[in-house]
Amino acid sequence: MAREFKQETMKYDIVVLGAGVIGLSTAINIQTCLPNRHVVIIADKFTTETTSNGAAGIFRPTLEKTPAKSLEQFRKWCTDSFDWYHHLNTDHDPSKTGVLRLSGYQFTDGKIKPPFHHNIGYHFRDLTERELKSFPGDQKCGWMMSTLMVECRRYLPWLTDLFLSRGGRIENRTVSSIEEFAGKCSLLVTCCGLNAVKLLNDQEMFPVRGHLIRVKAPWVKHLYVWNSGNNYIYAGQDDVVLGGTRHEGAYDTSHNEQWFNDILTKCEKILPGIKNAEVVSKWTGLRPHRTFVRLEPEIMSFRGKKLQVVHNYGHGANGVALSWGCGKEAAQIVKDLTISKL
Ligand SMILES: Cc1cc2nc3c(=O)[nH]c(=O)nc-3n(C[C@H](O)[C@H](O)[C@H](O)COP(=O)(O)OP(=O)(O)OC[C@H]3O[C@@H](n4cnc5c(N)ncnc54)[C@H](O)[C@@H]3O)c2cc1C
Ligand SMILES: *[C@@H]1O[C@H](CO)[C@@H](O)[C@H](O)[C@H]1NC(C)=O
Repeated sequence: MAREFKQETMKYDIVVLGAGVIGLSTAINIQTCLPNRHVVIIADKFTTETTSNGAAGIFRPTLEKTPAKSLEQFRKWCTDSFDWYHHLNTDHDPSKTGVLRLSGYQFTDGKIKPPFHHNIGYHFRDLTERELKSFPGDQKCGWMMSTLMVECRRYLPWLTDLFLSRGGRIENRTVSSIEEFAGKCSLLVTCCGLNAVKLLNDQEMFPVRGHLIRVKAPWVKHLYVWNSGNNYIYAGQDDVVLGGTRHEGAYDTSHNEQWFNDILTKCEKILPGIKNAEVVSKWTGLRPHRTFVRLEPEIMSFRGKKLQVVHNYGHGANGVALSWGCGKEAAQIVKDLTISKL
């Protein structure tokens, strides 16, 4: 039996700070691990306002762009997430969950080692000469792959409904200091993305700015990745995502036409028909990068008051792809800490 939190002195039981894909996934996994506990999500940005919403959402995780402390841990995040997304694509309605199966091509400059995810997705093999010649430009090497894509525009509302249907609560406000939770909750989980720089004074965090264009091009049915994975075309349900850029350390998200033109020019070289596609939206976002993803417990202390914290942030270029696996691990840590206190 779970111990009820002391209603009189404690304002909250378990608080998850953040409603991006990491916060929602973590909160739902905590509900699964600890069904008798009260979980509240506190955030100041929801669904369309979050970084998660803008992401391309492809499952193509690479250890270089989202380092974990061990290969085993990274593999577990990847496989747990992929299994979950497979389930949402197969046993649920993808028009609601936003999870699609997508196949296509990645071009490389030379023969290189296959990426980390090659034996996690559905399918992965070298491209044949004949296939390479079927594309414009001089494509030398590459792979054919089948993976999953998670459209957060659908997935975040779907997760939110799941969280609320299990009795979760949501508060819409800005937290100016986590000190407010000391003595006021049994446990705090930080899923605050890049804002950990300010909120937790985490100097290991840094932004990697990216730009994306969404166009109407229903004739595109595949994925295309090239330029060391930095440029891509992904066919979604409503539109096609064109990317991207990687600007390390850049915080400025004001509109800059130069970067969007750059993306269009590069994508037109792979799929010339893109030239005539209607542009639906242009988006600039900041990937929450960190030396290592921070997924660990910490006991913080504020003026003698202890605060039990579990951190889950800093997922860089792969937050959507890894969110379920990381949420699951964070929930397990929460459960272990909660049970050991009884
Ligand atoms: C151009 C681009 C393309 C991308 N493509 C992909 C991709 O193809 N695949 C992939 O896996 N990933 C991709 N990503 C990365 C992905 O977007 C991120 O890793 C992921 O969204 C991080 O999720 P998060 O929940 O940590 O952060 P966010 O979505 O930023 O959510 C943070 C939450 O914390 C809350 N918060 C923070 N501070 C406070 C506070 N003080 N008070 C109250 N609330 C607070 C916010 O309100 C928000 O709800 C891409 C990113 C960019 C920029
Ligand atoms: C959260 O509150 C802000 C203003 O305080 C408001 O603009 C926004 O629409 C609210 N978001 C949600 C999801 O209710």
